[in-house]
Parts: sequence; C-alpha cells; structure tokens
Amino acid sequence: MDYKQQIAEALSTPLTDVLSTEQIKKLIETPKTSMMGDLAFPTFTLAKSMHRAPNDIAADVLSKIDQSNFEKVVQAGPYINFFLNKGQYANEVLGTILQQGSHYGDFDEGHGGNVPIDMSSPNIAKPMSMGHLRSTVIGNSIANLLSKRGYHPIKDNHLGDWGTQFGKLITAYKKWGNEDDVRKDPITNLVAYYVKFHQEDVEHPELDDEAREWFKKLEDGDEEANRLWKWFSEVSLKEFQKVYDLLGVKFDLYNGEAFYNDKMQEVIDILKEKNLLVESRGAEIVNLDEYKLNPALILKSDGATLYITRDLATAIYREREFNFAQNLYVVGSEQTYYFKQVKAVLLKMGFKSAEHMEHIPFGLITVNGKKLSTRSGRIILLEEVLNDSIALAKKQIESKNPDLKNKDEVARQVGVGAVVFNDLKNERILNIDFNLEDVLKFEGDTGPYVQYTNARAQSLLAKAGVELQQENYALTDEKAWNTIKLLDEFPNIVKEANDKHEPSVVAKYTLHLAQAFNKYYGNTKILVKDAELDNRLALVKSVSVVLTEALRLLGVQAPSEM
Ligand code: ARG
Repeated sequence: MDYKQQIAEALSTPLTDVLSTEQIKKLIETPKTSMMGDLAFPTFTLAKSMHRAPNDIAADVLSKIDQSNFEKVVQAGPYINFFLNKGQYANEVLGTILQQGSHYGDFDEGHGGNVPIDMSSPNIAKPMSMGHLRSTVIGNSIANLLSKRGYHPIKDNHLGDWGTQFGKLITAYKKWGNEDDVRKDPITNLVAYYVKFHQEDVEHPELDDEAREWFKKLEDGDEEANRLWKWFSEVSLKEFQKVYDLLGVKFDLYNGEAFYNDKMQEVIDILKEKNLLVESRGAEIVNLDEYKLNPALILKSDGATLYITRDLATAIYREREFNFAQNLYVVGSEQTYYFKQVKAVLLKMGFKSAEHMEHIPFGLITVNGKKLSTRSGRIILLEEVLNDSIALAKKQIESKNPDLKNKDEVARQVGVGAVVFNDLKNERILNIDFNLEDVLKFEGDTGPYVQYTNARAQSLLAKAGVELQQENYALTDEKAWNTIKLLDEFPNIVKEANDKHEPSVVAKYTLHLAQAFNKYYGNTKILVKDAELDNRLALVKSVSVVLTEALRLLGVQAPSEM
C-alpha cells in the first residue's frame, strides 16, 4: 500500500490551490521516532510561498483534513503528523505476504529483457581467488534480483583461458613439469610452474621470448600447444566446479576468452575499416583522446591479441546474440579504467549498445588483513576457506543443537551462507576483510544471525501447528509495528537493490528485519491462546517468508532448523 499517496490525497483537499498531489507527496517525511507518527508533512515550504507562519498553516490545514482513514492526525509545531491505522495496515501487509508467498516483491519491470552478466571469470591454471569469489556471489545475487524484477539474466563465466600467460605456462611445464603431478593436484602444481617461471626469468630473460613464441604457436593452432592448453583448462575447471557446487551457483554460459579466438579478426577488420587503428612502436593502438583516456593497445608488435581485443569481440557477440537490455560486468574496481577504455573503443567502432554496458566494480578482499597474490606464492584456496567455514559451523551446531537431524546439510548451508553474507552485507565498492570466526557468529551482522532468526520463526510456527485462515490479520500491537512496516518495505528494497545492482541493500534489510523481529519476539508471548494468536502467527509466518526470499536473493540458503 502506498501510504504516502493516501496521505498526499488527504492533504490535497485543503492544499488544492497551492500544491499538486505529486508535490505534496515529495514533501512527506518519515519522522525520527515513531512517537511522532509514521509519516509527517512539514509546512516550511508552504510558509515561504504563502507568507504565513508554519505553525498557523499546520493548524489550519489540519482542521480541514478528513482524518477517518488514520488512527490519528496531530499537529506538532510546524508539522502535521500522521499515525496510520495499525490494524488496517497490518492486515494489508500480512494478507499480501501470506497470499503471494515467495512472489511477494516480484515486479515485471524487465519484460524478459536479456541481461548478460559477466561474472566469476577466474583464470585457468590459477586458484580461484577471493576476488573471484566476490564476483561470483555478487553476480549471482544481481542475477536473482534481475529475475525478480522481470529481466532474463544470462550468467556468463568469462574464464581467463587465453593470453600470453599460457605461453609462460607451457614453457614452464615443458621445462619443469610432470604429468602425474598435474593430474594429482592440478592448480597447486600449475601455479608452482608459473611461480618458478617468474623467479627464473629475472636472470634468464630469454625465457620470456620462449613464452611469447609458445603463445604465438597456440594462437596459430599448433597441435602440442593446443593439447596442453586444453588439458590445463579442463583440470582447472574441474577444481573451480567444486567451489561453484559448494556455493550452489550455476552458470548459463562458460564462454571464456578462448571462445572469441575466431571472432577477433572481425574486430581488427572493423577497426581498420573505420581507420581507428594507429601504429605505435610496431603495435596497433586506438586513440581515445576525446574520451580523455589513454590509448587502447589492440595488437602487440608480434600481432598477438590482448585481453581487450577479446573483450571487444565479447561485447559485439553479446549484442548480436542477446540483443541485451543491459550488459553487465561484475569485475573488481582495479579494472574500472580498463572498462572505460573498452566502452570507448566500442562506441568509436559504432556499437551503440555499448551505452548499455555497465561495469559493476567491487572492492578488494583481504583475509585476516592480508592481501592475496599468486605470484608471490601466497595462495589461499577458496575451497579450503569454504570447507573451514563449514567445519566451524558444524562445531557450533553440535554445541547449540546436538539433537539436530541433518547436521551436515545444515552446517553446509550455514558455513557457506556465512561467507556469502559477509561478502554481500557491505556496499560492494568497499574493501572487506574476511575473518572466519567473525563471519560465523550467531549474533551480530552475520548470515547465521539472519538464518537463525528465520529458523526460530519457523520453529514457532511448527510449535503452533495451526493453519492460518487468511481472512483478517489486523494486528494492532504497538510492539509489532516496526516489523510490519519493514515487511511492507520489501518490494521497495528489491527495486532499489536492483536499480543500483547492489545486493547489500537486501543484506542490510535482512539484518534490520531480523533485529526488529527478535525485539518483538523477546517482548511478546506469541503462542498464548488469545484472540490475537492468529494475527501474531501471521506476522511470524510473514517474517519467515520474507527472510527466506531475501536470503534466496542473496544466494544464501535458509534452513528451517539450526
Ligand atoms: N579473468 C579476469 C581476471 O581474473 C576477469 C575477467 C573479467 N571479465 C571480462 N570480460 N574482462 O582478472
């Protein structure tokens, strides 16, 4: 229900000569405390145009308002404070949620428009980093939000499976590699070769020439180079898949960089045809002066393509294949400048769809205050992080709820959910630190806290054991008021989170709703058999429906017991 609209309409009668209903609506505020009403209309703006004292206007307007739809309307100095009719409001909110269930908050804004989301995109032969974890869980949640708003998200894993680093890797493998080792523990060994390459090439720069040659061979279709590359890709993907399975994230496409190999010549052709390629020290670049950006390097002096060449081919492919409404790239903020260049080159090439290309950056993630990097050899495997979290969750569940039946399954849901929630609870652009003990606390701003609140609500419902009749849930209890108002907010929260591609809006909301509900729960005997029992259960059920759906949007599961 749009209560601002209702209030604006009530005010429009006395104010018909001075303000339109739309203008009134814009002036309506939410007071600092609920003691001052649910919504308030300030008269300062009117005072200026009407040359009258604000308090006078407030008194005058109040006397002319039809108050029948409100609990009460009172004047407080220059403000007119509106107290909504609680029973009516509660009944509308709870009735809607119970009727719509998990569809509460759905809205078809997108009309099925395609939205490719470039996400996760780890690099072959390297461990998936915490940064790739961020891209995976942020991208996944953005996709869920898009679906809820009526779009058709297409999750595309743009694997880093091409580039000069494969020349280095093949060189290193051929010098120091061992087939059995790679089979047994692919990522660790491939990384070890790569690290060794970088240690050795300090004193043996000729290694770099060799690597360049191998990459050229790879691009030219050399049999051995391609066989090794394919093998490295397969074993790496298998490792990544373990993490995706733990997270429960699925992709629609795995079009890695190599997928665009045969689509790159066209990029070069268009650039040439439009006279956009300029030679610079043997290499080919595109000038981006008019965008106040540095030139984009498109072809190296030996004719090898680059990361950006493949991204240009990717964007063109997506336009043709999907005719997208939006084209999103969930990639760390260190690539912000780079994506500006990609967009600028596409616009120069005449691809207007680049206007709908959006880079969705996110901040760095550190683990216990430390940065992660592959080259220095300090590797933390994501799969280990997730498994550690699951193990710790299991321990906590064992001490809190030793009789729980499916402990392993719940530990997985809580352990993984804790890591995901921690990633999504802050604005994505902020840097975050990951500390296992902190993310798994059952109290505080954590995933387990929200999950636990929901499980508590569900166990209350199980204890009550009654079916709700869905007739009238006019809960008037003052103590439930905050929770009801928050429940009413959910559709707006989904819209805001989707508009901004910002899952933290939903995550923060789940924390507020959980806090409000726990406060209510702590002060109320919910299961007492009195006239309001059904109303209270309707509230508990609604909280559980909304928390479960909000967690689903975040990619976090909601166990019914824990
Ligand atoms: N593989 C890259 C990396 O790990 C991310 C790829 C992002 N997507 C893109 N279309 N460039 O940094």
